Amino acid sequence: MNRSKQTQPRHIPVLVNEVCAALITDSSGIYVDCTFGLGGHTSALSSLLNTDATLIGIDQDRSALDQFSQNSIQQNLHLVCTNFENLLEVLADLEIQKVNGILLDLGLNSFSLDDPERGFAFGIKGPLDMRFDRDTHLTAEQVVNEYSEADLANIMFRFGEERHSRRIAKRIAGMRMQKPLKTSEDLKEAVRASVDRRFLNKSLARVFQAIRIEVNRELDVLHEVLEAALQSLFPAGRIAVISYHSLEDRIVKNFFRDKSQDIPLQPGMLDEEVRIPQLARITKKPITATAEEIALNPRSRSAKLRVAERTAHA
Ligand SMILES: C[S@@+](CC[C@H](N)C(=O)[O-])C[C@H]1O[C@@H](n2cnc3c(N)ncnc32)[C@H](O)[C@@H]1O
Repeated sequence: MNRSKQTQPRHIPVLVNEVCAALITDSSGIYVDCTFGLGGHTSALSSLLNTDATLIGIDQDRSALDQFSQNSIQQNLHLVCTNFENLLEVLADLEIQKVNGILLDLGLNSFSLDDPERGFAFGIKGPLDMRFDRDTHLTAEQVVNEYSEADLANIMFRFGEERHSRRIAKRIAGMRMQKPLKTSEDLKEAVRASVDRRFLNKSLARVFQAIRIEVNRELDVLHEVLEAALQSLFPAGRIAVISYHSLEDRIVKNFFRDKSQDIPLQPGMLDEEVRIPQLARITKKPITATAEEIALNPRSRSAKLRVAERTAHA
């Protein structure tokens, strides 16, 4: 038996039964897992699909893809290390035009979260990195030390919904005049010095989330992949998105709502203003984890799953 695998904590994919039930419309179809991570959802899909199905796994974090052993997958599996904003190019390279299902399970995988070298967790001392893809240039250290105080405050307010963003930005600006902030512990210190101890953990979570979103352009690429997914689905094909915070969920909710609304022709209206719905919402309200799942996997507590289906209209 492989010792390293034996000691790995068991990875539990979030809302896995709900995702599989919502996504599979053709057991021999083509499915894209845009956030392959440790392969949890892909493995579950694989166990339910026919052997002539095709699976495509995308992740920009090479260390996650390298963890995966393909032995358990019976189907044709293509693993591609890239940002999911490149979905259309990935499909074109594989000479695939349309697919039956697309999954996005947003955020970061537990392997990277626990890796001190990546600097994602405020509970683990590590360098201020926070890049999902370590080949990209912008790091958390650059954001924290090189952005203006006003830009830092805006990022923490917009991407972390942090009420004390100005105070924290001011503290960071003061600290970095003495010496640059280098580690997650340095950033933690700036927050600790700016907010009441009672709110410290919540503020830390919000500040680390905000910097991570900025480093990885997470909200921009989410907009882009949703548009690309819409273009890539067969009629009756489905997209399922799991998000873990309100900023992402709002983008998904609004996108599904906008694309599922028709705008009928009215007097004086131009032809291009008429819109036929491209999506039908399968979930009007998001699916959330049961108490049993949360007890088993605390990460599922904040998960929201939304699903939509491509209509027959081009
Ligand atoms: C929550 S984890 C997915 C876990 C996976 N569903 C599983 O069960 O193992 C999210 C993954 O998406 C990847 N990811 C996040 N944003 C991405 C992006 N823009 N492009 C490609 N991969 C991305 C992260 O590197 C991470 O591995």
